[in-house]
Amino acid sequence: MSADHYFTAEPGAPIRRSEIEFTVAGRNYRLAVASGVFSAGRLDPGTAVLLRKATLPEAGAEGTFLDLGCGYGPIACVLASQAPRATVHAVDVNSRARELTTENAATLGLAGRIRVAAPDEVPDDVTFDEIWSNPPTHVGKAELHAILQQWMPRLAPGGVAWLVINRNLGGDSLHAWLVAGGWNVERVASQKGFRVLRVTGKSAD
Ligand SMILES: C[S@@+](CC[C@H](N)C(=O)[O-])C[C@H]1O[C@@H](n2cnc3c(N)ncnc32)[C@H](O)[C@@H]1O
Repeated sequence: MSADHYFTAEPGAPIRRSEIEFTVAGRNYRLAVASGVFSAGRLDPGTAVLLRKATLPEAGAEGTFLDLGCGYGPIACVLASQAPRATVHAVDVNSRARELTTENAATLGLAGRIRVAAPDEVPDDVTFDEIWSNPPTHVGKAELHAILQQWMPRLAPGGVAWLVINRNLGGDSLHAWLVAGGWNVERVASQKGFRVLRVTGKSAD
């Protein structure tokens, strides 16, 4: 029996490929997915709530965004499509997820602006005007906190992070943990059990 999970670095199971279609802000997306990546059967409902309820970047938005835990790239592809002048770093530990995001970015003509990387490949001096994430919860609370502790401080001054997390998988405790860590956190939506959090630094008061 395979012990692979979607967050396995090198999925070992044979690849079964398919496509997922969805619409965000009137744009249709058709993305390649494969077994061994998160939510390969449909756009994850949490991601769908995030993309519907968070404030998508304006068409003229410039700057550098992060899709933390990009999977096959739905969030990165939406951000780069919405904001044709922005650069999106799409980061995942799962190599198959990174390959799919690279493929999807190319298919959508976004390859130059979606930089797909393993977490430790992003240059240390890059900061982010926006961080977007449907973060991994199955890694456990300690690891989730470690991941956010690694990336949230890289929010640029005045930047904003948009997170979605299932209430039953620790959404409210994550909210409280972020507040305890000195972040401003606003719950902008709660739908289908998913919390959408808007997180800013204290300097953005
Ligand atoms: C909940 S999934 C979201 C995937 C994708 N953004 C989506 O909406 O379908 C979380 C992703 O985080 C990735 N992940 C797990 N640990 C990670 C880490 N330490 N750094 C970056 N990504 C990680 C997993 O491989 C998975 O693809």
